[in-house]
Amino acid sequence: MNVLVTGAAGFIGSHVIARLLQRGDTVIGVDNLNDYYSPNRKRRNLAQALLNPRFRLHEIDIRDRRAMESLFAREPISKVIHLAAMAGVRASILNPAVYKEVNVDATAGLLDLASRHDIANFVFASSSSVYGEAARLPFFEDDPDIVPASPYAATKRASEQLCFDCHRLYGLRCTCLRYFTVYGPRGRPDMAPYLFVQAILEGSELTMFGQGDSARDYTYVDDVVDGTIAALDADLPFEIINLGNSRPVTLRHFIQLIEHFSRQSAIIRRAPVQRGDIPITCADITKAKRLLGYSPKVEIEEGLQRFVDWYHTDVVGQGEISISQAPLAVGDSRELVGTVEG
Ligand SMILES: NC(=O)c1ccc[n+]([C@@H]2O[C@H](COP(=O)([O-])OP(=O)(O)OC[C@H]3O[C@@H](n4cnc5c(N)ncnc54)[C@H](O)[C@@H]3O)[C@@H](O)[C@H]2O)c1
Repeated sequence: MNVLVTGAAGFIGSHVIARLLQRGDTVIGVDNLNDYYSPNRKRRNLAQALLNPRFRLHEIDIRDRRAMESLFAREPISKVIHLAAMAGVRASILNPAVYKEVNVDATAGLLDLASRHDIANFVFASSSSVYGEAARLPFFEDDPDIVPASPYAATKRASEQLCFDCHRLYGLRCTCLRYFTVYGPRGRPDMAPYLFVQAILEGSELTMFGQGDSARDYTYVDDVVDGTIAALDADLPFEIINLGNSRPVTLRHFIQLIEHFSRQSAIIRRAPVQRGDIPITCADITKAKRLLGYSPKVEIEEGLQRFVDWYHTDVVGQGEISISQAPLAVGDSRELVGTVEG
């Protein structure tokens, strides 16, 4: 099978590609290697894949309509996994226009190309952030009360609708996957798991809001890859499906686990709970189990151990990033506690 993966060099994209290559697929990767975080890190994410003759990377901006059209004309693409996006909730509040351009307009363009080129299946990376603050727990896909609470979340919700429109109008088979706080090796440096590990290993202060009893449904990247590939292989007309772990972990416990695996103590500054903080996120994964056979396997203890080990060898070992270069401050309440993820 020939699979187009956009956002190829990113955290989730690089893991998805490794799995597709492992099982014998041919992968056409697209990424503009932008500097939202280190382009060098993104290149390193693909170091192994680039050695494989069944992988080709095209450095293209998905907003470049002509380049994307020419790609579809040249490459024998049969299915699409669309992961390229401006991710990150806080940055979307600071710069909503670019989020709309990349996440909505370019997705509309890609859906149009997919419809015209008889693509057999289109898998789109949506986000648990679409649920917002009013949704009931555990978050389930058909909740009528979802209110995206950031420009980023709004772009993901809008793209789900565009996928549905393309399915309804042109018969394109689409599955929108709502990922829940994905973590693991090659994790995004603007997300809470990375920032916590970084702060604890570097001996920097981190801010804990409230008593640390807010909780997130952290999902290990290998489990998300399982669900994504299952969606690619499934023959579903149109679906929106949660990919989470369904086992929320409190902030306090999360920090304790990192302390344990890194054998270092966190320097914690306490601060009052922030207005608008979502106390808990949790995915209802009944639908993913039923339609995709999805069953997350990696417990938080095992996943965090692997993540800390990776950070030691790949980030500290390579001397790649220091805390002063991180795109968002560790004490940023929105990223660490107040947002679902990006
Ligand atoms: N990581 C999570 O917890 C999480 C949660 C929910 C949803 N998601 C979604 O999953 C997808 C992958 O997320 P990730 O964590 O791997 O993020 P990432 O930032 O590591 O990967 C996204 C990739 O897309 C590329 N990209 C961005 N704009 C582009 C453009 N205009 N043209 C071409 N390439 C472009 C980036 O260079 C990057 O390599 C995103 O759509 C994200 O919104 C992620």
